[in-house]
Amino acid sequence: MASFNVLMLPGDGIGPEVMAEVGKVVDFLDKQGVARFETETDLVGGACYDAHKVSITDAAMARAQAADAVLFGAVGGPKWDAVPYDARPEAGLLRLRKDLGLFANLRPAICYPALADASSLKREVVEGLDIVIVRELTGGVYFGEPKEIVTLENGEKRGVDTQVYTTHEIERIGRVAFELARKRRNKVTSSEKRNVMKSGVLWNQVTSALHKAEFGDVELEHQLADALAMQLVRWPKQFDVIVTDNLFGDILSDIAAMLTGSLGMLPSASLGAEDPATGKRKALYEPVHGSAPDIAGKGLANPIAMIGSFAMSLRYSFGLLEAADLVETAIANVLAQGLRTKDIAAAGQNAVGTGEMGAAIVKEMQALA
Ligand code: NAI
Ligand code: MG
Repeated sequence: MASFNVLMLPGDGIGPEVMAEVGKVVDFLDKQGVARFETETDLVGGACYDAHKVSITDAAMARAQAADAVLFGAVGGPKWDAVPYDARPEAGLLRLRKDLGLFANLRPAICYPALADASSLKREVVEGLDIVIVRELTGGVYFGEPKEIVTLENGEKRGVDTQVYTTHEIERIGRVAFELARKRRNKVTSSEKRNVMKSGVLWNQVTSALHKAEFGDVELEHQLADALAMQLVRWPKQFDVIVTDNLFGDILSDIAAMLTGSLGMLPSASLGAEDPATGKRKALYEPVHGSAPDIAGKGLANPIAMIGSFAMSLRYSFGLLEAADLVETAIANVLAQGLRTKDIAAAGQNAVGTGEMGAAIVKEMQALA
């Protein structure tokens, strides 16, 4: 039986609460003999700062490097607002992304029919929506040099950020998008602003060349990022996989997220380069939401984003596609049965707690298996 080494970093606030529900799913798959999961748990974020005065330890980083996948809960909260900048809770997540080389951020936006009325858009626009935004995560204007605020001779100040992309960076993110599309509906929409940005011209050329050379079987279209933002709200179901840079991806993925309703529903994956020797990738899976200090410790958090993130690890790190489908179908079914945590309940509708939602998903998996 295949065996996988999983590092769990629950973090702060509701992080540990939603991670505990993933534990139930892991135990079930283990018991079913789907695979053997060797799980380890370590500290990150404020919890780590309290114990070690850093937001992640070198020992935890080494475990993350060695793991087949990292599951990350959430970090931060008012308790740590005053800690030194380099030790702030988010620094742990940034170090993980950087040291593991996680350049591809996958954010699915799925609208379950049972929740279509929770969207701010009309039901027919979002019902059944299933798209993925692939955002380049380690390059572009967030990291390009020079990056500075300089004082000019006349006393004025000038703030500078630099958008930089190389052929290699565009190619590797493009490849992730095309390969993903092949497992889905075979369509990639690449987005930039080639009309006003040189990096956009290059982005367009490189994705087109990659398409021609290796992915002729996948449909490729190009859309300017501003036009794409409009289309995402007008008729999002025209898309399958959208690939774009760090800045546009940041904004477009938040738009796509809100098409589907609650933050508590949104999973994500961050992938690194494939090791040519083993075919394995470094990967980190985390919900899009934060530590939700307002509801932490109350058993109210929706665990679906975290469980959905684990389902993505089954798909993208472990190659357990049937198990991934099983988890995702179980989530859709419990929602269809009317089960709701407070964040997704309609006014007056009964809500269940974190543990009940997790248990119901496992029970549904059992019924389906
Ligand atoms: P947040 O995502 O933690 O919460 C925003 C709102 O959504 C809150 O009302 C919260 O109760 C609700 N919410 C979030 N997740 C939920 C879930 N699973 N179930 C039910 N309701 C949920 O964002 P916020 O409030 O801006 O940040 C809180 C803390 O989290 C801050 O310290 C922030 O820095 C940190 N944060 C951490 C992230 C991470 O670890 N990747 C990402 C975003 C924020
Ligand atoms: Mg953002």
